[in-house]
Amino acid sequence: MSEPEYGDGRKAYAVRKIHLGIFDINTLNQMTQGLWAHPDNESYRYKELSFWIELAQLLERGLFDFMFFADSYGYPNQKRELSYREAVYAPSNDPMLLIPALAAATKHLAFVTTASPVYELPYPNARRFSTLDHLTGGRIGWNVVATGGISGAEAFGRDGILPHDERYEQAEEFMEASYKLFEGSWADDAVVGDKQRRYYADSSKVRIVEHEGRHYRMKGAHSSEPSVQRTPVIFQAGSSERGRDFAAKHAEGVFLKAPTVEALRAQVLDIRRRAAAFGRGPEEIKIFTGLSAVVGRTKEEAQRKLESYRAYASREAALLTYENSTGIDLAALDPDAPFVNVKTEQGLSHTERYTKHSGSVQTVRDVMDNFASKEFRGITIAGTADEIADRMQYWVEETGIDGFNLERYVLPGGHRDFVDQVVPVLQKRGMFRERYEESSLRERLFGKGTARLADSHPGAAYRI
Ligand SMILES: Cc1cc2nc3c(=O)[nH]c(=O)nc-3n(C[C@H](O)[C@H](O)[C@H](O)COP(=O)(O)O)c2cc1C
Repeated sequence: MSEPEYGDGRKAYAVRKIHLGIFDINTLNQMTQGLWAHPDNESYRYKELSFWIELAQLLERGLFDFMFFADSYGYPNQKRELSYREAVYAPSNDPMLLIPALAAATKHLAFVTTASPVYELPYPNARRFSTLDHLTGGRIGWNVVATGGISGAEAFGRDGILPHDERYEQAEEFMEASYKLFEGSWADDAVVGDKQRRYYADSSKVRIVEHEGRHYRMKGAHSSEPSVQRTPVIFQAGSSERGRDFAAKHAEGVFLKAPTVEALRAQVLDIRRRAAAFGRGPEEIKIFTGLSAVVGRTKEEAQRKLESYRAYASREAALLTYENSTGIDLAALDPDAPFVNVKTEQGLSHTERYTKHSGSVQTVRDVMDNFASKEFRGITIAGTADEIADRMQYWVEETGIDGFNLERYVLPGGHRDFVDQVVPVLQKRGMFRERYEESSLRERLFGKGTARLADSHPGAAYRI
């Protein structure tokens, strides 16, 4: 039997099922500063619960795995006029507070939200995630970030941020304290819940856990009883050397971005190789990349849409987001100078993308041009549903990723086009589920019966 051929003329590979999420944030602009003003964009409704509920229900109709919410503390403390005029990640609301409402409006869709060890404390953070895991019936993931924002530190009354690698050490310690609470405080049979005997829980099976480290001190019994997943599904998105080790050890979902197929493939292999060094199997980590898909009935229609979105982009606001993430004001540098020996203590993923992972030396102007048009986007594909599915399949097969996190242009219309037009094509090709089967997020990613952490995960060592 000959293999089927797809639209771009390539031979098809063995079909792999993929996972799909959306990558979003509780604010007006994401990834294309200025786009909130586009007539088709309803992101200005970010303050309305109904806006998020409609989006969640749309994604559930499309059988998506999860909604992923990025988040960070911080406020515009430089170029303030530009920041507020263009709504550069400000104002913004807390995405975690949306989740119970979105869970009530859906049955299967899962939610990944961000909490940073830089700002949170293990005890209340674990309580919040356990509460969410209970309320959602195990549909919760935690994006652990080693945040580098300076204004967030100010807002918390700190003198500054810790150096990059130390923030990851801090995150290591945070994880250890969190696992003690999630996994090591309540035994599975601690809750009896017998009304006749008026006997709710057995105190001998609820352990007081302690942690004494460089960054955190804690003593207490976890306040929540065991939830479906106990530890939420751990996600991570930093791709510096230190970030990858952290991901390889702790993450069950990794969000990687790279400029080329080759660079992404190398990162995927690297994460899986590092995971093996931590005694974890290569399949214990699902790897996602960002996808900005613009769907049209014809390629021309999709291109026209993409051009209309790009027409709203603000270059100066885009460059400000680069500065906010890295501390580097590109416009203040010599545009013809090579972008090398760049130092930052903030997010290395955003500098290394133009140095280590770019394949050739870029000038400051190249970096500005590229960043102003892409910002933090992953792969951009504008085309028909078939063309988009072709490219998705190509990236999956060429890089070994497990799925995509869809990025917004216009909300919710862009995702509606994807659900209505691309999802059926992916299904027809056997690349995407036809119905939901598993109910917890961990089982959706790793299969039935895996609601709890894998035995090889470092958190499992803290089990009571
Ligand atoms: C795709 C992507 C998404 C991210 N989302 C967040 C976020 O929501 N909040 C945050 O504080 N940092 C976020 N970050 C920052 C990283 O998680 C990480 O903490 C930071 O980049 C520093 O680590 P690195 O040097 O390893 O990149 C994100 C980074 C990437 C690449």
